[in-house]
Amino acid sequence: MKILVVGASGTVGAAVVKALQSRHEILAASRSSQLSVDLRDEASIRDLYERIGIVDAVVCAAGGAPFISLPNASAADFEAGFADKLGGQINLVLHGIEHVSDRGSFTLISGVLAREPVATGVISSTVNGAVEAFVSAAATELPRGIRINAVSPSVLTESLGDYGDYFPGFESVSAANVSQAFVKSVQGVHTGRIHRIG
Ligand SMILES: NC(=O)c1ccc[n+]([C@@H]2O[C@H](COP(=O)([O-])OP(=O)(O)OC[C@H]3O[C@@H](n4cnc5c(N)ncnc54)[C@H](OP(=O)(O)O)[C@@H]3O)[C@@H](O)[C@H]2O)c1
Repeated sequence: MKILVVGASGTVGAAVVKALQSRHEILAASRSSQLSVDLRDEASIRDLYERIGIVDAVVCAAGGAPFISLPNASAADFEAGFADKLGGQINLVLHGIEHVSDRGSFTLISGVLAREPVATGVISSTVNGAVEAFVSAAATELPRGIRINAVSPSVLTESLGDYGDYFPGFESVSAANVSQAFVKSVQGVHTGRIHRIG
């Protein structure tokens, strides 16, 4: 298969590429890669698809949202999260439908905060929950047998040094373990599934 991986250079994305690259052709994209895209910029998503043509699968392992406590959060802070991880991934699907082959797939990323809140994580929780709701609903309407799933991991063991303090008592999961959920989504038969890891 020909697979577009957005966020291919990140902690999650690099593990996904490693898990898929021996059997598939990977098109690696991010803001700083040769195949550049910025999820926050709809025009850059359209431009990316024009450059790559048709793919069999689109995988997203990118997108962020600000960590800020609810009393200190502004509407603009929420909008930033909506425009990046939520809107960016929705645009990846909207503009990608015509660029994904029959019975191809989309795999989006959400995260444990959709089901387990942490301090200052309210915007991420909102965004991750919305990504998962989008996937469930979009699966019922995608044409030509195109599937869509989300991978929703707990904090990665590899990221504990950066984010561990935000996730007290959470069991971490390895990037290699998380990557297998992406493999299942891309090569399997599920649609509308939220693959919860940890
Ligand atoms: N790490 C964890 O513990 C964990 C757990 C659960 C969920 N997640 C979710 O998994 C996703 C990836 O996390 P990560 O830890 O792998 O992040 P990361 O290591 O910071 O990597 C992010 C990747 O996405 C690219 N990227 C960042 N912003 C982008 C944008 N606006 N448009 C296009 N590409 C962009 C980065 O490359 P460039 O800088 O070149 O753009 C990089 O390839 C995030 O949505 C995160 O919320 C992570």
